[in-house]
Amino acid sequence: MLNQTNLNIPLDREGEEPIYRQLIRFIRMQIESGNLTAGARLPASRDLARQLNISRISVVNAYAELRAQGYLSAHAGRGTFVSGETSTPPPTSQHSNGGGLAPEIPGTPDRSLREMMRLAQKPGVISFSRGAAPTEFFPVHSLRDAMNAVLDRDGSAALGYEAREGYGPLRAAVRDYVSALGIQCNADQVLVTGGTQQALDLVIQALLSEGEVVVTENPTYLGMIDIARARRVQLHGISMDEDGIRLDELENYIIDNNPRLIYVMPTFQNPTAAVMPLHRRRQLLNLANDYNIPILEDAVYHEFRFEGEAVPPLKALDESGIVIHASGFTKMLLPGIRIGYLISDNRHYERIVRVKYAADISTPGLNQRAIHLMLESGVLAQQLERNTRELLRRRDAAVSAARKYFPPGSHWNVPEGGMYMWMNLPKHGPSAAELYVTAVQMGVAYAIGSVFYTNSCGSHRLRINISTQKPAEIEEGFRRLGRAWRELACDYADIDKAGLL
Ligand SMILES: Cc1ncc(COP(=O)(O)O)c(C=O)c1O
Repeated sequence: MLNQTNLNIPLDREGEEPIYRQLIRFIRMQIESGNLTAGARLPASRDLARQLNISRISVVNAYAELRAQGYLSAHAGRGTFVSGETSTPPPTSQHSNGGGLAPEIPGTPDRSLREMMRLAQKPGVISFSRGAAPTEFFPVHSLRDAMNAVLDRDGSAALGYEAREGYGPLRAAVRDYVSALGIQCNADQVLVTGGTQQALDLVIQALLSEGEVVVTENPTYLGMIDIARARRVQLHGISMDEDGIRLDELENYIIDNNPRLIYVMPTFQNPTAAVMPLHRRRQLLNLANDYNIPILEDAVYHEFRFEGEAVPPLKALDESGIVIHASGFTKMLLPGIRIGYLISDNRHYERIVRVKYAADISTPGLNQRAIHLMLESGVLAQQLERNTRELLRRRDAAVSAARKYFPPGSHWNVPEGGMYMWMNLPKHGPSAAELYVTAVQMGVAYAIGSVFYTNSCGSHRLRINISTQKPAEIEEGFRRLGRAWRELACDYADIDKAGLL
């Protein structure tokens, strides 16, 4: 049985790991090791905060997350208890660092914040946290028609192994499609992939060996952080300014560290929605050519522009073939059908195709053929037009709700395209991670900004996917977010007065 006064938690007050995460880790370990048994009562949050000389919010958030994970339960008026019959780990035991998971690669962020973001799946929560387009955007009927037409036309030929480079007519259609964006290529430079994600992964596998370095924007796409971790390559983030990746810092890094690849999202970067202007694109290409380092361009949001003038993709400006261009018909059309592509010159193409073949032999032929028909029949063009119109409506709703409800001292971008609003909370209040549990309890969720950084900074940043909710829900969600912040900020002030911060 736990003696409240003896819950002696060793805390690293100078380290990078937030205090509340240290609490979660410690209490979980105590439960999993049997030191804290089912039914043990934990100290009240106020008492534990006082005893450890930390913010009460840290304790409240730690208890809330442990409750959500099934380790603890709360009984009104009686306190917080270790749940379950025994000390065996609850079903969410993947939170433990054991379990045979590969050790973390230095420089890649901790998983626990991302696990915490699963709380967003609670019913009734207005969630802005995911990276997906809303399901009501999906052209379900057009897909059904396309699938039926393919099966009627091709029969079993649509169901065998497809050519490893992709279905020929789709490769040609991709060539034509990207030529409208200014990219000149042949169909035999196009490789059809399982979504953009696989295109990125194949390039990393084909071009880098274990331990080598890919440089990227900081913050960057979470999926690339995952790939780097899985493929055991190092990911190094370079700071951004309003024009994208900073080239002075990049060049210094290149000189000192000889990275093998530069990975960037020049248009509507995830998570910041930043767009790299033309002059910076040209400078980046010059730099890559000077040092002979290939660029992997992720253009998955390129066509999601609802305002302002389009800037050509890097690949459209590339005269030497140094750019590998990756994108897909996922965000724009159907994420679950998993059709992406990459465009590469001969230098890397064959090697990438071999990795693709080893990964999955080929991308499903039925899906490729259906997407091909949808491209040819103009469904993609219609979808894009309709979706960008609706995205603009949602962006406007988000901007006006942000002005109304976000706390004074917070900042956010007004995106011209893409799906994200990138927000900065006032420094004097709770961090995005500290706010998270209260926000979810009040019925709103977002992506905690620090998960997108390669070096765990961005504590007061959050990413809001403005595409997933309709304007009325955006208004209500932002109202809840503002209320959660105010409630927590009040607690901060109270605790501050009590000398506990
Ligand atoms: C920047 C970026 N690249 C790639 C992907 C993966 O997209 P796909 O569904 O095409 O694999 C995503 C998805 O969120 C993304 O945000």
